[in-house]
Amino acid sequence: MTDTPQIPFARPWITDEDRQAVLEVLNGHILTHGPQCKSFEQEFAAFLGGGHCVSVSSCMAALHLSYLHFGIGPGDEVIVPAQTHAATAHAVEWVGATPVFVDCDSRTGNLTASAIESALTSKTKAISVVHFAGIPCDMPPIVDLAQRYNLRIIEDCAIALGASHQGRHVGLFGDAGCFSFYPVKHMTTGEGGMFVSRHEDVSQAVARLRAFGVDRTHTERTVPGMYDVPSLGLNYRMSEIQAALGRSQLRRMSAVLAHRTALFDRYRKLVGELPNVRLIDTDAAECRSSYYCASVVFEGEYAHKRNEAVERLNTAGIGTSIYYPQPVPRMTYYRNKYGFVPANYSRAEHISDHSVALPLGMHVAGGDVDRIVATLERSVTESAGRKGLTR
Ligand SMILES: Cc1ncc(COP(=O)(O)O)c(C=O)c1O
Repeated sequence: MTDTPQIPFARPWITDEDRQAVLEVLNGHILTHGPQCKSFEQEFAAFLGGGHCVSVSSCMAALHLSYLHFGIGPGDEVIVPAQTHAATAHAVEWVGATPVFVDCDSRTGNLTASAIESALTSKTKAISVVHFAGIPCDMPPIVDLAQRYNLRIIEDCAIALGASHQGRHVGLFGDAGCFSFYPVKHMTTGEGGMFVSRHEDVSQAVARLRAFGVDRTHTERTVPGMYDVPSLGLNYRMSEIQAALGRSQLRRMSAVLAHRTALFDRYRKLVGELPNVRLIDTDAAECRSSYYCASVVFEGEYAHKRNEAVERLNTAGIGTSIYYPQPVPRMTYYRNKYGFVPANYSRAEHISDHSVALPLGMHVAGGDVDRIVATLERSVTESAGRKGLTR
């Protein structure tokens, strides 16, 4: 056993205020269909600086609702980044449309307008944009492209709460924005998510779709229990318990973002001094990253040292993860269904196979970054000559 403090990759930040907020709901009688979700939606829109929000059970639910609402389905193609979570593509698959995977930019891990344009066909109906590692995509040329080709933009902002481009929060560029409150994210509701649209009628329709397709909420019913169902729907609602936790967490988001920014600056400095490793990063002045994680990519003669580094870091009590473990088109389901041509996704593969995501969050202190990077440095310098596995 060692006394050296453990640093998990991520840890939810739960305070006494959070516990109190949840207890107050439990001490009352309204566990769903109540005021907490309504207030959370309004406060989240205020945080984003616009839009109409709909609280949902997960980011995946928000993505699914987006494609359902916009009528995207069989015979349609949707541009999906190869370097993302499976949920981004699954939402497209569940509506029966075809994901067309596009490789990323190697520096940011994001899609670019030119890569998207080269994958468009007459069947393309939408572009799924993911703000990778919290770095906002360069949205103006993507919005311009979507307008020229009459395409919907669905923004997957699961790991980008707090990210903005030219002062506009991500999720407010396209037709829909989808956020995640899974425990390792910037803020959590246990499980949970938020749908946002700049158009009130879209959010109202999505709110009905998320709740069985019923035509009136509990408060809108003149006769209790009386409603009609004019359309198909799902149950993707968030509970009052989750919303109370979300509201309490949201109040601390500026402190969370400030801390993450300071930690990332330290990573940027220290990792910048190491040869053959680089951070997934941007220096574009118009981009404000949400600094979801510090993903370090091993290059050149260090390219195959990722797994040794993971082992060394974990042994030293430093948690790690990989964003994302494989380009989605290489995952078994998608490979079996659509085939996989490695040459088409070489940049996404490089990130998946040669990177490690290092801890970032409120549980990490400034000095921890020095220890993490020193351990990383030792792992690559002391393992010269040995080759690790890539998968
Ligand atoms: C880019 C991206 N999209 C979607 C999701 C799924 O989010 P949720 O678990 O809230 O459905 C994740 C989860 O990490 C993600 O990274």
